[in-house]
Order: sequence, then structure tokens, then C-alpha cells
Amino acid sequence: MQILLAHGPNLNLLGERKPEVYGTTTLLDIEADVAGVANARGAAVLCLQTNHEGRLIDALHELRRVVDGVVLNAGAWTHTSVALRDAIEAVELPVVEVHLSNTHRREEFRHRSLIAAVCIGQVTGLGREGYRVATELLLDYLEGRR
Ligand code: DQA
Repeated sequence: MQILLAHGPNLNLLGERKPEVYGTTTLLDIEADVAGVANARGAAVLCLQTNHEGRLIDALHELRRVVDGVVLNAGAWTHTSVALRDAIEAVELPVVEVHLSNTHRREEFRHRSLIAAVCIGQVTGLGREGYRVATELLLDYLEGRR
């Protein structure tokens, strides 16, 4: 079993970007957390972060037969990208949407997710811990337990 952990724009700056909202955890910390959870369950993790929307869409296309599922924090593209929504739908991979912050407690434009309807679930506002939850959920789903 192999999963993709994908991050969208500005998430390479985790740890220094708005720590009052996103905490001091770095992207490397998150990648290590997800790898820890997945490896303990016998799954491998591929990690990707990109600030280029087309790169993320290309990666979903290229990896659609390589990985079994995706943990995705699409950052701001969550709220803007019909193209990303269509890509998730097209590749037919199970995707769990993750946000560090509780987007529903923030500006109104963050309340709507364009990708939620094509994801198997959403974990929002649990900070770093949300990725562990999302990874367990995805693996449970892939193992047919959900
Ligand atoms: C985010 C929430 C988004 O609204 C924002 O654009 C981000 C990060 C989160 O993890 O809380 O870049 O996805």
C-alpha cells in the first residue's frame, strides 16, 4: 500500500507562516508524522509540496495508478480550484482533505471547500494531529474498514 501526502501553496513555509494560526510545526514534521503512522501499518508514503496548481494536478494524474489514496492539504486552492476538484474526481483515488486551521472559524471565503464533495472525508482544525487522523482514516478506508 502506498499513499500520497500532498500539500498546496505556501505550506512549504509552515513553522514560520502565521504560527498563531498554523502552529510551529514544519512540513518536515508533518511528513514524518504521516510516514510514522503509515509505516507502522505497512504502508509507504510519497510526499509532494508545490506552489503550482498544474504541478499538483499533473502529480495526481501521474500517480493515479501508483498510489492507493491521498492525504491532501490543498491550502488556498481548496476554496478556488474547480480544476483540482475535477482532477480528484477524474483520478478516482480516495482523498482525505486536511486543514490545520478550522477554516469555518476564519474568513467567510475559507468556509467553502470546492473539493470536499469529491473527497471521502475532511479533517479540519485539529492542527498537526489532523494528519495522523486523516492517515488512519485513509488506511482504514483502503483496508475496507470504512
Ligand atoms: C489551510 C487553510 C486554507 O484556507 C489556507 O489557504 C491554507 C492552509 C489550513 O491548513 O488550515 O493555506 O489549508
